[in-house]
Amino acid sequence: MGCSNNKSKVQNLKLGDQIIEKKVDSVLSLMTLKEKIGQMVQYNGGWDLTGPPSKMSDKEKVEKLKNGLVGSMLNVVSVKATREAQKLVMDNSRLKIPLIFGYDVIHGYKTIFPIPLGESASWDLALIKKSAAMAAKEASASGIQWTFAPMMDISRDARWGRIMEGAGEDPYLNSMIAVARVQGFQGDDLSKENTIAACAKHFAGYGLAEAGREYNTVNIGEFELNNEVLPPFKAAAEAGVATFMNSFNELDGIPATAHKGIQRDLLKGKWNWNGFIVSDWGSIGELVPHGIAKDKYQASEIAIKAGSDMDMESHAYEANLEKLVNDGKIDVALINDAVKRILKLKFELGLFDDPYKYCNEEREVREVYSAENQKFAREVAKKSIVLLKNEDQLLPLKKSIKSIAVIGPLAYDKDTPLGNWRAQGKSYSAVSLLEGVKNMVSPTTEVVYQKGCDFILNDLKPGQSLFSHPLNINKTDISKIPAAVAAAKKADVVLLAIGENAYQTGEGRSQTNIGFAGVQSQLLKAVLQVNKNVVIILMNGRPMDITWASEHVPSILECWHLGSQAGNAIADVLFGDYNPSGKLPVSFPYNVGQEPLYYNHKNTGRPYNGGKLVTYSGYRDAPNNALYPFGFGLSYTSFRYDNLKLDKSKISKEGTINLSVDVTNTGNLDGEEVIQMYIHDRVGSITRPVKELKAFKKEMFKVGETKTINFTINNKILQFYTANKKWEVEPGDFDVFIGGNSVNTLKESFEVIN
Ligand code: BGC
Repeated sequence: MGCSNNKSKVQNLKLGDQIIEKKVDSVLSLMTLKEKIGQMVQYNGGWDLTGPPSKMSDKEKVEKLKNGLVGSMLNVVSVKATREAQKLVMDNSRLKIPLIFGYDVIHGYKTIFPIPLGESASWDLALIKKSAAMAAKEASASGIQWTFAPMMDISRDARWGRIMEGAGEDPYLNSMIAVARVQGFQGDDLSKENTIAACAKHFAGYGLAEAGREYNTVNIGEFELNNEVLPPFKAAAEAGVATFMNSFNELDGIPATAHKGIQRDLLKGKWNWNGFIVSDWGSIGELVPHGIAKDKYQASEIAIKAGSDMDMESHAYEANLEKLVNDGKIDVALINDAVKRILKLKFELGLFDDPYKYCNEEREVREVYSAENQKFAREVAKKSIVLLKNEDQLLPLKKSIKSIAVIGPLAYDKDTPLGNWRAQGKSYSAVSLLEGVKNMVSPTTEVVYQKGCDFILNDLKPGQSLFSHPLNINKTDISKIPAAVAAAKKADVVLLAIGENAYQTGEGRSQTNIGFAGVQSQLLKAVLQVNKNVVIILMNGRPMDITWASEHVPSILECWHLGSQAGNAIADVLFGDYNPSGKLPVSFPYNVGQEPLYYNHKNTGRPYNGGKLVTYSGYRDAPNNALYPFGFGLSYTSFRYDNLKLDKSKISKEGTINLSVDVTNTGNLDGEEVIQMYIHDRVGSITRPVKELKAFKKEMFKVGETKTINFTINNKILQFYTANKKWEVEPGDFDVFIGGNSVNTLKESFEVIN
């Protein structure tokens, strides 16, 4: 029964696709070349820049819209604004092809969820999918049909500011989370009014920018590209992501926007993906400074041949494509193909049926920033917190504790928890730590607040956006420290909120120093001198150098930039209403000099042996490993792993092994654990990582409970892009590791035979 239902669904889908294809063809046949090129043009709304401004005036834009020469707009938000722009097209243009409105809905629309890196620490795919779905619901209620998310760039370098926007350093975790986010945004039917098209970005390699410097060169080989960078994109394409965005960086000498090999040949060719590719902001024009095109005319030729279908804010296609066709430089078939892909999505979204279907004020008021959404944002935020250290079980705190000093520049900061890429998140709207604590404690608890130091001197004013401006950090004024010390002295416990401002990570926010900026370390040291019971509430968008703190402070709670409900969620964890279960999606280094740092590195010909000779791969002044490794995170309870068993020790390339491991909650509280499975392919036709995450499960354990957790190893897990330039399983010896992080694991071995 189930089978035949599925079959008919597939047939229906195919039929639906065919009908859409027919409609697309009939619209295309009516279009002039100019109108076709217009569909490939995307304009910014003009008031909310996320890249360098263009020279075009709003008046010129309006004229182009009226003439049907624009296919899409970005950064036009709200029912009112999108309706106005749509009306210009519908009331004036010849063919009345509706606009599609895109926006960076990265971690929520107005209800802000944790930054993507933080949310990834939940390792909770259902939760992540639901948060994307809720963001889609709010965005679609505000006139938006398309988000430029999820970002799925593998990022291993804490210096790179955009590390906050992805799921960290691991290809498997990134793939699973990318799919969850795509499914959340798109739902099972794009034509529903509460789903939006997703965008897999940035294709490809952007996260591996040399030295972590923004927009920098990426030089990786074909094997690393295929094995590490592309898997999340492939997974997203297979999950039916509607669009892709290419990226600013070059890839081994070819800017991604000009890269025919990955866009036209691989994505649209070999993977047979049928969505459209939007350029990144101005990235077609940037082929000129890259030095691969001498002007925008040539840049347009290269970009369209490479596969870029829509030009975001370069104003290159609109100025050059017609001439390129007339000069015989490009075939009009390339334009037809791009336009068909764009129109197809507009049909799928239902925009041709009703261009104003996302324009419902009543729905906007009802669904955006609702109480239900706030409640869920708190749920996501508490599940994204990672307990890094908890000496002598300082945490959880009792709600009846006598006195708490809440200290630090981020303690009463209602803006920083919103993080960067906060869409319509209203400045200063987050629940601060101080408010969260006050909401939670007993009426008899004394809560004292001291800022301790000023942090950002050009602090955000309401309504002002610091998206593209540098921050001015206080590096000298320590005058507020004594009052903080006095408060700390009298309190039973100090909650010290330090870390990074919202705008220290995100686009254009690369840093060479990943420690506590400004005078925060001085504050930490001064407070610790008078009270040992310090809990660091770390708010940040990247892995930081917290080595000193981790040696001296008893408890550290990794709280990222947790979104609208940050303070309440942190209080849930601090006071034990929620037992923390997050695990790091990125390695935390001992110091910045170790970056890029990632657990799934190669062994080298001279692996570090901790020995006395220097002739091994390592540093003389720092360890090779992470301070807090990938997959790490504590709980208020503890877990024991026993009896790792494999049902076979030898399999063929197509065979499967069933594994089981017993996990026991050995502590005094119920709690969740993320059970992680890694493999190591000992010998390959190309060198293989020392460990690779291949599966995980998040499970709840009652006190004393033991559960047998099962995994399966099969060819999907064992295959990789081999020296033959194919995805295949190679026979040989493998190790399998299971544990609660990437370092402390049980280990077994097996063999794959021909
Ligand atoms: C970013 C993209 C973003 C676009 C539109 C660019 O600067 O790299 O990720 O989607 O701007 O705001």
